[in-house]
Amino acid sequence: MKPDALILGIETSCDDSAAAVVRGGREVLVNRIATQVPCHQKFGGVVPEVASRKHLEAIAPLVRETLAEAGLGLTDLDGLAVTYGPGLVGSLLVGVSFAKALAYALGLPLAGVHHIEGHIFANFLAHPGVEPPLVCLTVSGGHTEIYYMPQIAEYELLGRTRDDAAGEAFDKVARVLGLGYPGGPPIERLSSSGDHNSVALPRGLAGEQTLDFSFSGLKTAALNHINQIRQTRGELNEAEKADLAASFQWAVVDVLAERAVKAAASRGVRTLLVSGGVAANGLLRETLTARAADRGITAHFPPRVLCTDNAAMIAAAGYHHLRRGVRSDLSLNAVPSLPLTS
Ligand code: KG4
Ligand code: ZN
Repeated sequence: MKPDALILGIETSCDDSAAAVVRGGREVLVNRIATQVPCHQKFGGVVPEVASRKHLEAIAPLVRETLAEAGLGLTDLDGLAVTYGPGLVGSLLVGVSFAKALAYALGLPLAGVHHIEGHIFANFLAHPGVEPPLVCLTVSGGHTEIYYMPQIAEYELLGRTRDDAAGEAFDKVARVLGLGYPGGPPIERLSSSGDHNSVALPRGLAGEQTLDFSFSGLKTAALNHINQIRQTRGELNEAEKADLAASFQWAVVDVLAERAVKAAASRGVRTLLVSGGVAANGLLRETLTARAADRGITAHFPPRVLCTDNAAMIAAAGYHHLRRGVRSDLSLNAVPSLPLTS
């Protein structure tokens, strides 16, 4: 695989169909996302059966439009990369089947990519100087995990959530406050007018010597606070909603920043990558950057568009596999609970 290879990335693991073309593993030519958010909004979360059907409708036109925007034809491509897990099995299958068919028809090499590895590589697209050894925190609607990456494509799990993912907690609290789905952005907006010290909320696993997370206690405490006000006085006013949102956001950010910096320091690395949908959060970006800098560590975040699910990150990760001669064959299958191992 040549250094400036053109890779088409495909991502359909959850509720966004995405396609992108990346050159040389670092340069995004086109990055398109066909979001299903409006479709799932009325249910307050992703409905798997609806998601897979929507992917099926979207995928072929999306790839066609992506190549057209890049000014490329199918035969200009040097390889393909596709997310094959973890995620919703029906959704993953659409991307995997499409990518395999294309690879077979065009005679191109194919790389199956782990979704979290993709999130990690979003930072390689955004920051050309980033190189391992490093530690990365991936924090999204489905995952909250810290990995040590001694070199490209080698991963050691240092910590993970024992229950809810951080983004999932944002989504659940937002849902009860009537803020809609996904919950992170409206909670962040509402927080800006609230006092983050106003509601005392627990920090999961506080005092334990661990790099794991637990957000279910925090989520339940936030929901109890809302229900208590509703039962005694009726609906929360705007100021009360803002105070709760700010206190909740701060509790999540505080724990994420503390464990991520501790993990990086424990491995003696100077580079900390943060990725996934929750990495779009402004308070997390600010707090983590400052706390890392205090320990001589540089924290990197992708631009917001590359934080949430996209296919450019999948193409970037796939490029590194193909460059090392690691290819997937046509037996590649969707693996809903795929672990990230070396
Ligand atoms: O990475 P992603 O697009 O999908 C998954 O792989 O899960 O992440 C989506 C998650 C949702 O839970 C959403 O509420 C959260 O990321 N999110 C945020 C923000 N933007 C998105 N959480 C906090 N603050 C944000 N600004
Ligand atoms: Zn994701």
